[in-house]
This record gives sequence, C-alpha cells and structure tokens, in this order.
Amino acid sequence: MERFIVQHTEKLQGTVTISGAKNALLPILAACLLTEDTCTVCDVPPLTDVLAMVELLRGFGAELFFDPKEQKITVQAKRIFTTEASDETAGKMRASFLTAAPLLVRMRSAKLPLPGGCQIGSRPIDLHLKGFSAMGAENKQEHGMVELWTKGLVGENIYLDFPSVGATENIMMAATLAKGTTVIENAAAEPEICDLAVFLRKMGAKITGDGTDTVMIEGVDSLHGAVHRVMPDRIEAGTFLVAAAMTGGNILLHNVREEHLKPVIAKLTECGVQMELTKEGIRVASKGILAPVHIKTMPFPGFPTDMQAIFMSLVTLAKGTSVITETVFENRFIHAGELKRMGADITIDSRSAIIEGVEELTGSKVRATDLRAGAALILSALAARGETEISDIYHIERGYDHIEKKLRALGANIYKEE
Ligand code: UD1
Repeated sequence: MERFIVQHTEKLQGTVTISGAKNALLPILAACLLTEDTCTVCDVPPLTDVLAMVELLRGFGAELFFDPKEQKITVQAKRIFTTEASDETAGKMRASFLTAAPLLVRMRSAKLPLPGGCQIGSRPIDLHLKGFSAMGAENKQEHGMVELWTKGLVGENIYLDFPSVGATENIMMAATLAKGTTVIENAAAEPEICDLAVFLRKMGAKITGDGTDTVMIEGVDSLHGAVHRVMPDRIEAGTFLVAAAMTGGNILLHNVREEHLKPVIAKLTECGVQMELTKEGIRVASKGILAPVHIKTMPFPGFPTDMQAIFMSLVTLAKGTSVITETVFENRFIHAGELKRMGADITIDSRSAIIEGVEELTGSKVRATDLRAGAALILSALAARGETEISDIYHIERGYDHIEKKLRALGANIYKEE
C-alpha cells in the first residue's frame, strides 16, 4: 500500500500550475456519449477518477485515446454496444451515474450500479431520478442496480428540492436531446455546471441560464463533435492557497480563475492571509499567523464543501476558536479524528466542528479517509513538527494531479513510499 511520508516544511515558495478540474471533466467526458462524432478535451490530468471514467465509456463501446503527456483525450462514441455498466467499472467512481442521461437520451435505456454511500454521506440519486421521470423515463432498482428506460424524453419544468450538482448535470444533458424545452429550477450554479454547458453548447445544444438557479434547455435533434479545454480546478487551487497559508509561504498559482475562488479568498483574507491578483495568476503570501474564522458550507457561490476539510486543517493552527458548519453532506467530519491524532483540538457537535487553535501539530501515522480529507492531512503534515505517514493515499490520487510532485517543486518535504 502506497503512503506519503511528509516532514515539517517551512515557507513553500515558487510557482504551481493548477490542473484541469476533475469535477468538470467527469460530466464532460460522459457528455461525449451524446454524439457519434469525435470530441477532444484538453487539460486532462491523469487522475484515477478520470481513468475510471475512460474505462467506463470504453465498456459502452466508445473509442477513447488519452495522451497523458499532452493531457488530451479524444472520444468517439460512434456506436454504443451496451447501455449496462458492470459494478466493477462503474462502482469505482460515484460520478459514473453521470452516464445515465447520455445513455438514456441516446439509447433510451441505461443500467448502472446504484452509487453506494461513502465516508462523507449517503449519496442518494433521488433528484436525478425525479428529473428523468418527469421527462418520461421509468426506473426500477434491484440488486444494487438502477435500470432506466424511456420511449423518448420530453422537456419539463423540474424543481430540485436541493441544488444538486450531479442532478443538474444529468438533467441538463438529458434535456439537450429531449423533445421541447426543459427548465431546471433551484439548479446548482457551480462553475463546473457552466463548463459542462459551454461544452454542450459547442456540441450544438441550446442552453441558457447556467450559473444561475434557473437553467433552460431547448432540445435539439442531434449534437456534433466539439473541442474543449476544461476549466482549472478551483479545489486544487484552494488547496495550494491553504498550503502557502499554513507554511508561511509565498507562491504564485498559474491557471486559476479568481471568480471561482471568491468564497475561499474571502475566508483566507479573514484569516490574515494576503493574496494578490496578478496578470499571471494569484500570488499568496502568509506570515503563518492565522486568525480564527467561522465557516458554513453552502452550494455555490457559498463556501465549497470540498474545501471544508482543508480549512479545518488550516484553523487548527489559528490563534483562537473557529467554528465550521457542514450543511451539504451529513457526515463530512471523519477527518477531524485524524487531525486530532496530530494534536488538533476539535469538538464535533452535530453538523458543526469547534476548533480551538493549538500552538503546534505533531507528526503522526494517519489515514486519508476521503479525497479532500487526504489533502487536508498533507497540509497539516507540512506544518507539523516531525514526520507524518499518511496511508490510503489512493483517495488523494482520485482527484489531485501528482500533488506530491507539485508540492516538492515548491520546497515541500514529501515522498511516496510503497
Ligand atoms: C459534486 C462533486 C463533489 C462535491 C459536491 C457538492 C462531482 C463529481 N462531485 O458531487 O465533489 O462535494 O458536488 O458540491 O462533481 N442529494 C440528494 N439527492 C440527490 C442528489 C444529491 O439528496 O439525488 C444530496 C446529497 O446527498 C448531498 C447534496 O445533495 O447531501 C449535494 O450533492 P450533489 O450536489 O449532488 O453532489 P455530487 O454531484 O454528488
């Protein structure tokens, strides 16, 4: 089992280039199934979640060529041989359910494993199914699989009880080739939704309102191939901003969009971290003295749940008491236990974590319990005294493009060990 060995590191320095966003890429790759033509996606990092999506699409009959050096994928789904995914390929990644809409609208059926619960919550798909059924699809759940079928999808007005990112993406994709107009109310407004909409528009889809709570999609007869460069990963960018903050560092982030990072920048500023927008990107400088903050995770443009663990790691070293409230996922504090092993003072009270800043963290043996929790542990390990050993790092590699190499280039003392 691979592990990260991390030693205390002072002042990260240098420049880091942020990779393409995993959470934009996965729905975009799924959307390539909507056409028989070739689609090309650039700025594709070789993440294990991306490789799992490639394997899944190949299983349906699509031809994919991934050039990791060029970070480019070409996809051609000329024919789809099967609309059924095996538990083995689809089960590797919850985002596999994003192939439901393209399969359903193009082939009129789909059979996919029900995404199981995970460390951060139960991950239901009721909102996806509610949308599909309003548009004329039926579904059945049996033996851990969900089967969907339709005689043809029709546009509808769909109100989401919660602005789910995945449900908005699935319904938006289904609506591109449905008959008539679909309106999604209380839609998610995350930047990744906009990136998917940009890609779909390049394919010929008629979508307006993405990035707001009402998305309107006018169905068209067919979609064609497109070329797209995926948006930069705002969570990876946020992770590096916090890494600089925790080590008293000074780094420049290339390939970032400030408008995607507003809630993160606002909270870092409150902590006393300095950031400057330059022509080349965002420069972050920290003296390492951090003020405590209160944070509540919310759908975009609120504070992202995917940055919650990383900020918890940050405020363990703040001068005072911070409170972090998680409202998006019901069980996303497992990392608190691992941070406590490193000397953090954290009390969980239902959906809130109360964090009393400590003078120092100490290196320990800890376990990455999920993707972002794993990244949070790396950052704490850089700031901690002594050596930290992080196990189960396969979680981290699902969503971070060679994080250890990028950190090492900034002066971090982190190595991967078998
Ligand atoms: C996406 C992101 C994930 C991020 C999350 C919230 C991808 C691949 N993953 O996940 O990194 O943390 O958005 O920003 O893009 N819900 C329901 N019923 C549903 C669907 C969701 O109740 O049918 C609930 C979930 O349990 C959760 C909340 O809605 O509590 C948010 O989930 P959702 O926005 O759907 O997240 P994902 O799309 O799974």
